[in-house]
Amino acid sequence: MMYSRIAGTGRYLPEKVLTNFDLEKIVDTTDEWIRTRTGVERRHCVREDETTSDMCVEAAKRAIQKADVDVADIDLIIIGTTSPDLIFPNVATIVQHRLGIPACPAFSIEAACTGFIYALTTADKFIKAGEAKCALVVGAECITKLVDWTDRNTCVLFGDGAGAVILKSSEQPGIIGTHLGADGQYKELLYYPVGASKELHKAGTDEAGIVMAGSEVFKVAVKTLGNVASQALESAGIDQSELDWLVPHQANIRIIQATAKRLGLPMEKVILTVQDHGNTSAASVPLALDVGIRDGRIQPGQLVLMEAFGGGFTWGSVLMRL
Ligand code: UT7
Repeated sequence: MMYSRIAGTGRYLPEKVLTNFDLEKIVDTTDEWIRTRTGVERRHCVREDETTSDMCVEAAKRAIQKADVDVADIDLIIIGTTSPDLIFPNVATIVQHRLGIPACPAFSIEAACTGFIYALTTADKFIKAGEAKCALVVGAECITKLVDWTDRNTCVLFGDGAGAVILKSSEQPGIIGTHLGADGQYKELLYYPVGASKELHKAGTDEAGIVMAGSEVFKVAVKTLGNVASQALESAGIDQSELDWLVPHQANIRIIQATAKRLGLPMEKVILTVQDHGNTSAASVPLALDVGIRDGRIQPGQLVLMEAFGGGFTWGSVLMRL
């Protein structure tokens, strides 16, 4: 049996940092409200001329170096993002060219905040099917370019960044289980009202910003993420006490605390980055994974559960040994 295993991770965060105090000067909000309702203290924001592929390239370089692989060995690129540079070509091909990766399948997956989990799951299937041996998988988002900076309900939540992993074929697991889901009936609760075939003329104007019914999204997120986590462990026949780390999507500390509680997991076993990164959508899980690995908390061989939830709704989990 062939498995896939993470051989290296990397992250990139834009230089510019926006604190809650900075936001107090932009909209009618307070540091206290943002911290207590969301857990966010600061977030990174791209420069006007910075793009998703710029961030992917930097995060990927660090993952490639950590995994000690040659770019010539990479035979699959998948990028989870809802904020690609262009409508086409897909951002993975731009990244491929900029990194000098030889011809191989390169595509992006759009599943909002679950984008990285969808991308990693897809790469795992390619490797298990014997169709790839060394994949570059990235979650990246320039989401602050989609935010309406006059809407205090949403603009305080989001940040930019990219997290990358190199996923290699391995005789040892590696990825143990993956579960993806989606339910399109919830579209109205969280969406961006502009796309290639709808309202494109509004893009980049104050007529288009992220639309979110926050407290309703919150309720479904808590319930779904709890179920996703239990399902991942149950189907792998693993007791929750065996779990070393939870690496959750970083939308709101209260959602993360509820998931940890449901798993009976102390918060010391949860990698938290929401305070420093905000909600970086598809980038949040690989960013948190890289933080936990590079600061030495997540050790080789440990059992890690990653999970995410986002617009659609979409959701998913990846259970793995590092
Ligand atoms: O990543 C994809 C999935 N996304 C999520 O999972 C996000 C889920 N939702 C949430 O994290 C939370 O619902 C929010 C953080 C977005 C909002 O927190 P909440 O506790 O659900 O607040 P709320 O939307 O019910 O608003 C409570 C109050 C309202 O005032 P009134 O109507 O009670 O007078 C809002 O107008 O807080 C007000 N409010 C603010 N006040 C100060 C909303 N945003 C702000 C703000 N500063 N930035």
